[in-house]
Amino acid sequence: MPLSSIRKLLRVVKPYTFQIILVVLAAVFLSFLTGITQLALTPLLNLVLGTNITQAASTPPTFSFDLNKIGPAILSMISSATGLTDRWQLLAVTSIAYLALILIGQAAGFGARVWITRLRFSMVADVEHLVFSHILRLPLSFLRKYQAGWLFSRMDLDVRSAGSTLSEVVIDGLSSLLVSLFYAALLVRTSLSLALFAALAGVIQLALTRFLSTYTKRLTRRVLETSARLQAFGLERLLAVREIKALAAEAYEATVFRNFINQWKRVNTNQFIYKKVESPLRMSVNRTVIVAVMLFGAWQLVHGQLSTTAFLLFMFFAQQLITPLSSLSEMLLSLVEIRSTLDGVGYILSQDDEREGTGSRLVEGLHDHIVLKNVSFAYRDLPVLKNINLTIQRGEMVALVGKSGAGKSTLADLLMRFFIPTEGVIELDGIPAQEFDLAAYRRLFGVVSQDGLLFNETVYQNIAYARPELSQEDVERAARIANAENFILNDLDQGYDTLLGERGVRISGGQRQRVAIARAVVHRPQILVLDEATSALDSESERLVQEAISHVVKGHTSIVIAHRLSTILMADKIVVLRDGEIVEMGTHKELLALNGEYSYLYNLQFNDGVVTPMPQPERTATV
Ligand SMILES: Nc1ncnc2c1ncn2[C@@H]1O[C@H](COP(=O)(O)OP(=O)(O)O)[C@@H](O)[C@H]1O
Ligand SMILES: [Mg+2]
Repeated sequence: MPLSSIRKLLRVVKPYTFQIILVVLAAVFLSFLTGITQLALTPLLNLVLGTNITQAASTPPTFSFDLNKIGPAILSMISSATGLTDRWQLLAVTSIAYLALILIGQAAGFGARVWITRLRFSMVADVEHLVFSHILRLPLSFLRKYQAGWLFSRMDLDVRSAGSTLSEVVIDGLSSLLVSLFYAALLVRTSLSLALFAALAGVIQLALTRFLSTYTKRLTRRVLETSARLQAFGLERLLAVREIKALAAEAYEATVFRNFINQWKRVNTNQFIYKKVESPLRMSVNRTVIVAVMLFGAWQLVHGQLSTTAFLLFMFFAQQLITPLSSLSEMLLSLVEIRSTLDGVGYILSQDDEREGTGSRLVEGLHDHIVLKNVSFAYRDLPVLKNINLTIQRGEMVALVGKSGAGKSTLADLLMRFFIPTEGVIELDGIPAQEFDLAAYRRLFGVVSQDGLLFNETVYQNIAYARPELSQEDVERAARIANAENFILNDLDQGYDTLLGERGVRISGGQRQRVAIARAVVHRPQILVLDEATSALDSESERLVQEAISHVVKGHTSIVIAHRLSTILMADKIVVLRDGEIVEMGTHKELLALNGEYSYLYNLQFNDGVVTPMPQPERTATV
């Protein structure tokens, strides 16, 4: 993962440093408690097996980590502390102490887990927030390369799975490590040879576990991948359900979905079956190891190198050791896996914010003109605009025409700084656009595109979108200018409070466009960009939207891209683009007289009878 991404992630985690340290300390304390609790078993066993109590109580407690001696030592301590010498009384006291320790340990463990869970989800939430805000600030050129579903899974699934691994490693991994060390010390001190033998057997078991879990991890990754792909596909297609229906492609899409879901089915089935095989395999190996250690221990017992208690305890602790050890090795593995889990997130975070390298000059308005000087642009290697020279005077309506693919939308995108020109410069009142603060610069613009995308919110919220500072009057004024007030008040049940369905499906295309126009002008932008605002509409809706447009462009600097040339008859300047180059420029009359590209396009439409005359608005809107 790139260093810059790691730094960004660490910045999010930093406020939690203190809490993380406390959690680690809690894990250490818990391990200590576990150790003590397990040690309490030794005097219990001594008592049960009938160790000589008077002898144990009278020997001074010399504490040693040897299972042969530890039980009597603890007994002597308990006996001298309580003054008890009776076996049953000692048994009662020791049992109660043992149970008390267990209860404390469980309660403390629960507390620590609650705590780490809070910490974990807070950190995951902060990282997801970081990634989401970062994604929103990435240049369009990057975002267009990836499916929304892909970006979303990286941010969502991956971050969550990394969060769960991390929290497990911090608390379970650390205490496993400490508890393992504790047990290992006990075993080594009791019988070095037996401990070494057990270690050898343990290593064999761990190697097998590790081999199995590598495969598990690979399967898990494939499960995640196929789920993400399935989700990305499903999301994309469900959002396009209208288009799918229109193309009568339901059956086709269902077949494609079949492929995705089959893959998902196969991978998931494999993973589940594998998990079921894994556990009996592990169990068999584990039992073999135990039997081997037991036989070796029995040999030592018979030869007087181990006491009966020590032998039993050794077997018990050796068995106990296996669990933390194998979870420890798994955790180390998943810690390694975190890196690849977070690769996608790291990649996204390493991408430059679109404001990177741009200035911070604030801009309030357009005073004179916007000038494009020798502007060229290419998408990667594909040249789209070539050597564009264009001046847009304040208050002027400039129309861009040309066949589809000529570069009209790209030119508008460059003006709004969605992309940076590969060559040349765009200047606002003589200052290069790149020097301005991006957000302030974009606020100069109001944009309406082909299908005015509406959010699943009320009409009011859609018009005043992301601008809580606007007043009711601002919104109503915008609706009036956009020719939308009439239908909002008369046709919609709850007027401005009507909820617009997903992507605004509950209103017609023409109504949607008028709401989009209202949104574009509500903040009194200096420059309007209308990109094919009417091209998706039927002629009746088109007439209403055109009326709205002609209101709106009055008194505005505007850039109008229109498929229907009727929209732009009144433009001050018509710019004709062909294959990314300006081939003609002038007023409608001038261009017709040239008898070139424009007159060709115009006649094409005129003869097809598509031309509808521009309606003349009665009122003049003041914007
Ligand atoms: N994101 C993109 N990546 C690569 N090429 C693109 C992209 N967007 C548009 N193009 C190409 O740029 C050219 C101009 O597109 P565009 O500006 O949308 O044309 P217009 O709006 O005039 O129809 C087209 O050839 C188109 O294929
Ligand atoms: Mg376009």
